[in-house]
Amino acid sequence: MLILKSFFALLFLGLCKALKFPMTYTCATNARQQYDMFFPVQCPKGCASRTYGVWGNGTYTHDSSICRAAIHDGRLTDEGGEVIVYKQPGQTSYVGTERNSIKSSSYGYWRGSFSFTPKIPVTPITCETPVLDKRFALPTDFQVTCPPGCLKSSAKIWGSVIYTYHSSLCKAAIHDGRLTNAGGEVTIFTQPGQPSYQAEERNSVNSSSMDYSHSSFSFTPNVPGVNDPPVSCHITGRDTRFTVQASFNLTCPSGCANFTGNIWGSGIYTHDSAVCRAAIHDGRVTDDGGTVTFYRQLGQPSYIGLKKNSITSNPYAFWRTSFSFTAEVPDPPDCTTTAEDPNFFSQPSFKFFCPPSCADSASNIWGTVAYTSKSAICKAAIHDGRILNADGGIVTVYIQPGQQTYNGTERNSVKSLSFGYWLTAFSFTLNETDDGRHDYVTTISPDHGKGQSKELILLILIILLGLVILLVAYGLWRWHKNRRYGNYSSDDATSAIIPEAVPVEF
Ligand SMILES: *[C@@H]1O[C@H](CO)[C@@H](O)[C@H](O)[C@H]1NC(C)=O
Ligand SMILES: *[C@@H]1O[C@H](CO)[C@@H](O)[C@H](O)[C@H]1NC(C)=O
Ligand SMILES: *[C@@H]1O[C@H](CO)[C@@H](O)[C@H](O)[C@H]1NC(C)=O
Ligand SMILES: *[C@@H]1O[C@H](CO)[C@@H](O)[C@H](O)[C@H]1NC(C)=O
Ligand SMILES: *[C@@H]1O[C@H](CO)[C@@H](O)[C@H](O)[C@H]1NC(C)=O
Ligand SMILES: *[C@@H]1O[C@H](CO)[C@@H](O)[C@H](O)[C@H]1NC(C)=O
Repeated sequence: MLILKSFFALLFLGLCKALKFPMTYTCATNARQQYDMFFPVQCPKGCASRTYGVWGNGTYTHDSSICRAAIHDGRLTDEGGEVIVYKQPGQTSYVGTERNSIKSSSYGYWRGSFSFTPKIPVTPITCETPVLDKRFALPTDFQVTCPPGCLKSSAKIWGSVIYTYHSSLCKAAIHDGRLTNAGGEVTIFTQPGQPSYQAEERNSVNSSSMDYSHSSFSFTPNVPGVNDPPVSCHITGRDTRFTVQASFNLTCPSGCANFTGNIWGSGIYTHDSAVCRAAIHDGRVTDDGGTVTFYRQLGQPSYIGLKKNSITSNPYAFWRTSFSFTAEVPDPPDCTTTAEDPNFFSQPSFKFFCPPSCADSASNIWGTVAYTSKSAICKAAIHDGRILNADGGIVTVYIQPGQQTYNGTERNSVKSLSFGYWLTAFSFTLNETDDGRHDYVTTISPDHGKGQSKELILLILIILLGLVILLVAYGLWRWHKNRRYGNYSSDDATSAIIPEAVPVEF
């Protein structure tokens, strides 16, 4: 088998060589089909008067007529002769000019070229050179060498990290920190058009902002958050675009308020919360959408659940990663948190997770059933029999009007103090007069586990259904067999009718 393969490989190589060597050159021959990096070409006479295209000056697109380009470049006369052709990389542009009675054409980017000298001059890039449409259309990346002194050039750039295609390449490279004012070589990566480009001052260069532009470029192949599809209402803080940078701007679409994605927290949200709904909850955008700044945050020991801007968030216990829309976030609730905590400012009710052992906290509580707003919520919740001291758990707090007196009592091994009039109170039931306590203890994962448990139940049901179908099928099979073979069954061997006696029909 191996020998056979080798034989065919050799045959193929031989064929290639045989086809390549006795090549006949005409005025139409170009460098496209050549596999060698340089090769001699024997040009016939009379190519000057032919019409085969030539693009470039000194360096020609690889689909240009070699023999006519050789005359253009002054290597041959119309008498023909031999020239050496050197294949060259694609150029960002080709200049058209008339030389030696041959007119060459201009062109933008073209992926392959050739010249008649091994070393070609690189297309000079000035401080003003933008990524032009044509150069831009084909390659996904290309290198340019920037001249020094572009910092002071008046060339404009639009965007930051990702720039519009008509921005100055070299100035953008300084803005992005890829080059200094001394210039040098940079690699440019083409990017799809962006809905908007951000103005920013970086490295002493001011960029301008711009709304949609259909093409763009950057100095890294993957711009975090930029190559991603647009943000949808479904996106949670788990999305990979949020894991790269500590903060960045994102634009939320409209209509996320009625989307069903859950959110946990207030001000700071668990990272599996729906980002755009959280932004509405936090009052950063309305349901019409808009731009918000996303900040990745550390995990919090407790997340608040409350209704804000028509969106209800869920409470939760510790969750390892979170996000917010401001760099600074309020402290999470703990054993000392009172109803006057800024987290709950002017909220009629809220929920949060109380850590265990709050009864041991030094914080005071005043009242029974209704507690002064200065009381420690978690301790009051133990006093009121809502959670067990050993477990902690989620409590629901209702803000109540001020009471004339707050009576101190001892309940569930927690002592409360008495107080006179205090302007705001809270309780763990909607009506402060309702004393119908039910000592419930909320388990730790009321919401996160919900979807999974539903799926589990469904799976069990499907398995059960499958078993029932199997049993019915087995029963039917048994019944059918009994009918065909009389009352034969394996445990009734004595009354067996021999199955072979039944004629088999085909
Ligand atoms: C074309 O190339 C020649 C030789 O290198 C040069 O002198 C001339 O300036 C070039 N023309 C253009 C338009 O670049
Ligand atoms: C950039 O623009 C800001 C505001 O217009 C200006 O204060 C700052 O000096 C500018 N920076 C440069 C480097 O031009
Ligand atoms: C995000 O947008 C704010 C203004 O809304 C702007 O001040 C900030 O620089 C932007 N940040 C980034 C990383 O673009
Ligand atoms: C959200 O849904 C509710 C009830 O279905 C509806 O009354 C409300 O107008 C909707 N809001 C938006 C912004 O679509
Ligand atoms: C507090 O105690 C006093 C006297 O025992 C009683 O009259 C009053 O109704 C109590 N107030 C509340 C709010 O329970
Ligand atoms: C709370 O009190 C109001 C009036 O004080 C009453 O209308 C309402 O039904 C009460 N709610 C509950 C849950 O007891």
